[in-house]
Amino acid sequence: MNDRVAAAAAAVGEDSRVPCVLRVNGDCHALELDPRTTLLDALRENLALTGTKKGCDHGQCGACTVLLAGRRVNACLMLALMTEGDEVTTIEGLPALAARAATAPPSPDALHPLQQAFLSHDGFQCGYCTPGQICSAAGMLEEARQGMPSHVTADLGQDRPPLSPEEIRERMSGNLCRCGAYPNIIDAIAEVATAEA
Ligand code: FES
Ligand code: FES
Repeated sequence: MNDRVAAAAAAVGEDSRVPCVLRVNGDCHALELDPRTTLLDALRENLALTGTKKGCDHGQCGACTVLLAGRRVNACLMLALMTEGDEVTTIEGLPALAARAATAPPSPDALHPLQQAFLSHDGFQCGYCTPGQICSAAGMLEEARQGMPSHVTADLGQDRPPLSPEEIRERMSGNLCRCGAYPNIIDAIAEVATAEA
């Protein structure tokens, strides 16, 4: 626990809010938050970024997945204050992230390749889990690019393990879909993984 979070924790019980600056989707937001506010609640309730969903609020479903400094995290398990200084990317910011990576000019209608693939493959039914699935897939593809193995990677000596359907299923196992759209979700992610290979 860093000093700032420790000081914030000590303030719990008093009527005090803590000033902080959150960097979300390329913008800085100056906020005053109850130190117990989760990143998920700060995004949804304070910044009106409701694309990030609250499913279980206990780190079990993945609906709240966002990228923190490029790595996927469950926003319901992070205190907002703990993310100060790091860039948070939500589903609303993914297209701009993809445009920056491709050095393409920003366009309001642009979609991240994963968003387009989910549309093309019908990778959802009710759509509630979908923002978390897509943010998680974006983080997962980056992990694979960096050569991180998974529980089912057979050859740990490979620089970049190929993303077979089995690999994708294992690496996405933290994201639940109550509609059972898993086959199409795997197909959508596989298409993007193949395009990048
Ligand atoms: Fe965060 Fe379920 S809402 S993991
Ligand atoms: Fe409904 Fe996944 S599409 S929960």
